[in-house]
Amino acid sequence: MSKSIRVYSPASVSNVTCGFDVLGFAIEKPGDIILAEQGGKPGVRIKEIVGSDSIPLNPLENVASVAAQALVNHIDPKIGIDLTIYKNIKPGSGIGSSASSAVAATFAANQLLGTPIKNTFDLIPFAMQGEQIASGAFHADNVAPALLGGFIIVRSNDPLDVVQLGAPPDLYTVVIHPDVQIKTSESRKLLPGQVPLKSLVTQTGNLAGLVAGLLQHDYSLIGRSMHDVIIEPVRASTIPGFVELKSAALHAGALGAGISGSGPSVFALCKGEISAHKVHDEMKIAYESFNIKFDSYISPINKKGTIQIID
Ligand code: HSE
Repeated sequence: MSKSIRVYSPASVSNVTCGFDVLGFAIEKPGDIILAEQGGKPGVRIKEIVGSDSIPLNPLENVASVAAQALVNHIDPKIGIDLTIYKNIKPGSGIGSSASSAVAATFAANQLLGTPIKNTFDLIPFAMQGEQIASGAFHADNVAPALLGGFIIVRSNDPLDVVQLGAPPDLYTVVIHPDVQIKTSESRKLLPGQVPLKSLVTQTGNLAGLVAGLLQHDYSLIGRSMHDVIIEPVRASTIPGFVELKSAALHAGALGAGISGSGPSVFALCKGEISAHKVHDEMKIAYESFNIKFDSYISPINKKGTIQIID
């Protein structure tokens, strides 16, 4: 068993417009870092959280410790691990903040214990147990891309069936993160229990087109498919300036744009870095009139997922 392991796990964009709860991809930055160290007593504890004072230190309430504890329980409950969390993704940002911490903790704990779980895929259920306490639902559309990188499809949460799609080489994303917090658990309560058959057909066609576009590196098909007729119409009003941000992205040449996860972050997909910079600049200009602080990111699709940091 190593004495300590440091791990980086990236932010991610889930739903990707028409793929509610089933599609997601990882971005290069930001990402959370977790240091896992051998603990003296059984159980997973949070030693320190750097970068956020709104995240619980109580190991029963923290997504990272809950996820790592799930792994420890599976391997040997007598094991003790201390976690230090370097929180770079703001909680409630809609870019997979809780998933990043849960995945980093699970991955770090597995490395610290000498990789008893050999296949990285098999870490997903442990990380999902952590993610569940933040979102109130059991879904892998942020956890899986944060762990594995690239685009992923969650064909089924139970039993878990995750499919890796990789990513087209010239695909970039732009993310604008307004400094307001939206809790996924609250945002999910707004969603309809039933959808009209016509909407389902439109959404299914778009999702099939988007997946085909990603696999065939057909950027035009990706763009034509990025429409969400079920979730976005309900959630758009919860994000100040969503309509203006999306419109700015499309006018600047983005392939498509939408809500990242449950928001408030808004993302766009772009073909090539030059286009991504143009879209980024136009989205920033559009948002400056809203008097809301925001962060912005331009990133290729992260294809590596979670990695150990070798000091
Ligand atoms: N698919 C989830 C949702 C992701 O939209 O509620 C939350 O980040």
